[in-house]
Amino acid sequence: MKITYYGHSCFGIEINGRFLLFDPFISHNSLAKAVNISSIKADYILISHGHIDHIADAEVIAKSTKAKVICNWEIGNWLAGKGVQNIHQMNTGGKIKLDFGNIKAVAAVHSSGLPDGTYGGTAMGFVVESNQGNFYYAGDTALTYDMKLIGDYRKIDFAFLPIGDNFTMGVDNAIIACDFIKCNDIIGMHYNTFDAIKINDNEAISKFERNGKNLTLIPINETIIKT
Ligand code: NI
Ligand code: MN
Repeated sequence: MKITYYGHSCFGIEINGRFLLFDPFISHNSLAKAVNISSIKADYILISHGHIDHIADAEVIAKSTKAKVICNWEIGNWLAGKGVQNIHQMNTGGKIKLDFGNIKAVAAVHSSGLPDGTYGGTAMGFVVESNQGNFYYAGDTALTYDMKLIGDYRKIDFAFLPIGDNFTMGVDNAIIACDFIKCNDIIGMHYNTFDAIKINDNEAISKFERNGKNLTLIPINETIIKT
């Protein structure tokens, strides 16, 4: 798998020749100025919840790439109202089979209102399964015992966890989440974009290390490879 970080909670992931894009928030992100939105490839756009820092560029990228948007019922209806045509609506607990692997929507503890005030349904995370490996994308969430279900459900090879605190869990709770999901290989997200979620990157990495876990912070616009 090839993983490219586009800032905040937005990642592009290539699996089996297909391109997944998570929570596009690029044009409003001052840290992601180097990212050229029109060069982003997407076959699937996964949206964890309705907040603007997860959905701001979804409409534009969905229309330009014709990617299938995977999101909850309420967000799907909202995007359809804006003219997005290729949408697959799910809800927490559901699983779908796609051409590159499977996606299961899992619980997140967070809110989900849409930017114009429309009700955005419930926030979700995703477990992605493929023959290249399985990963968990937590979205915005608090630490929750529900994460233990994820660890029991599948062997998670690596996980995207929010670490910025204030709006989501922070570093200390993300370290506990590793034990719940039985995975010690973490890619950090939802940090440094705004003042309220600024962290000390090196302190976060060494805290994980001291607890026997690995935190990767990918520089924006860079790609790493995971098998
Ligand atoms: Ni949020
Ligand atoms: Mn957020």
